[in-house]
Amino acid sequence: MVGAEANELMLFDRNKTFSSEQGWGPVLDKLFPRGLMLIDFDHHRTDRRALSIAFKPEPMRHYSGALNRGIADEVAGWADKPMQFYPAIKKLTLDLAADSFIGIEWGPEADKINEAFVNMVQASVAPVRKPLPFTLMRKGVKGREFLVEYFTKETLRRRKEGGGQDMFSQFANATHEDGSLLEVDEVVDHMNFLMMAAHDTITSSATSLIYLLAKHPEWQDKLRQEILATTGGLNADGTPRDIAYEDLGKLELTEMAFKEALRLIPPVPSMPRRALKDFEFGGYTIPAGAQVGINIAMVHKMEEYWDEPEKFDPMRFTPDKVKARHKYAWVPFGGGAHMCLGLHFAYMQIKVLMVHVLSQYSIEIADNYDPDWKAWPIPQPKDGLNVTFKSL
Ligand code: HEM
Repeated sequence: MVGAEANELMLFDRNKTFSSEQGWGPVLDKLFPRGLMLIDFDHHRTDRRALSIAFKPEPMRHYSGALNRGIADEVAGWADKPMQFYPAIKKLTLDLAADSFIGIEWGPEADKINEAFVNMVQASVAPVRKPLPFTLMRKGVKGREFLVEYFTKETLRRRKEGGGQDMFSQFANATHEDGSLLEVDEVVDHMNFLMMAAHDTITSSATSLIYLLAKHPEWQDKLRQEILATTGGLNADGTPRDIAYEDLGKLELTEMAFKEALRLIPPVPSMPRRALKDFEFGGYTIPAGAQVGINIAMVHKMEEYWDEPEKFDPMRFTPDKVKARHKYAWVPFGGGAHMCLGLHFAYMQIKVLMVHVLSQYSIEIADNYDPDWKAWPIPQPKDGLNVTFKSL
């Protein structure tokens, strides 16, 4: 189904017509069962409410510290040499997740977890759906076994000893409305799912924003000005200053540029559901049992909602322009009950990244460089995106 009305009908789901569990199930349920997108309605509502404690201001402030530290260290090493951005940000995002999501230091333990996790994600979209020897699915199932064992052991330990401020420790001690803890295997499944939901989406969108800014140096200047005015410039030794959690909201242009990157190259280009009842759309009756989906990548470029849809123009996201547009014309994070739980985390990581990149570098690519993008399962430049971060 295509159009802002279609997005609203399916995502807002006023009449509880659409099952996310049965829509995403065929792709995700072998490796990420019982994650939030794989449960519906009342069960989904109570679990989501319990998990949302990990996204309250206090834990978010803690993650912002971890992001500033990790990103500053890594980005300092990107100076003045040609590099592929996509694999670099993928690795950095995994390492940052070890710290903010799991509360462990970068090192051999984090590397093992990352490897198991990457195998699981690759398996979820592998063509062979059975864990036969030497297949990606087999590696993914093994990765899942490893992570289930690790998170189970750690959930019990963190309940006994108390945990840190990381996301996993918050989940381990999250409670339902009646005060009862989540079952241990629920914590484990939610944790696995959340890492998957966060990882390639941030990696893809950071890559598209870097690419679009490289193509539009005038926007690098605007964002840099905003960033330096907010952080107060550079440290005495010339390194970028961190951005305080309280100041993230001041990076308005940076946020608008990110939104425009999410419009042009949405990490989740389409979303599936299964109809549980008959419903009407566009003059048709669609029967219960039908697999349905929306294509948001297409809606993000429809002339009906966007002037010159191919043009990179962050000013589309000024408050006035947003107000004047259909609310469901731009939905990179979905909407309704299943709307992305981690969107503020995503904005935060991207903003911290931009602070550390643009305070010290200009992002450069070769003239007329226009890499091919792989669209499925999540957009990425086929050549990894060749860029140079040139010291200012
Ligand atoms: C730019 C980055 C991201 C994008 C574009 C994105 C996109 C989405 C979309 C479209 C959905 C809804 C899918 C549907 O309704 O079928 C979703 C759900 C979800 N996302 Fe994100 N996401 C991003 C980052 C993150 C991060 C960083 C986290 C965690 C820290 C996260 C956690 C989740 C979770 C847990 C759900 C399931 C929510 C539910 O079903 O109630 N996402 N995301």
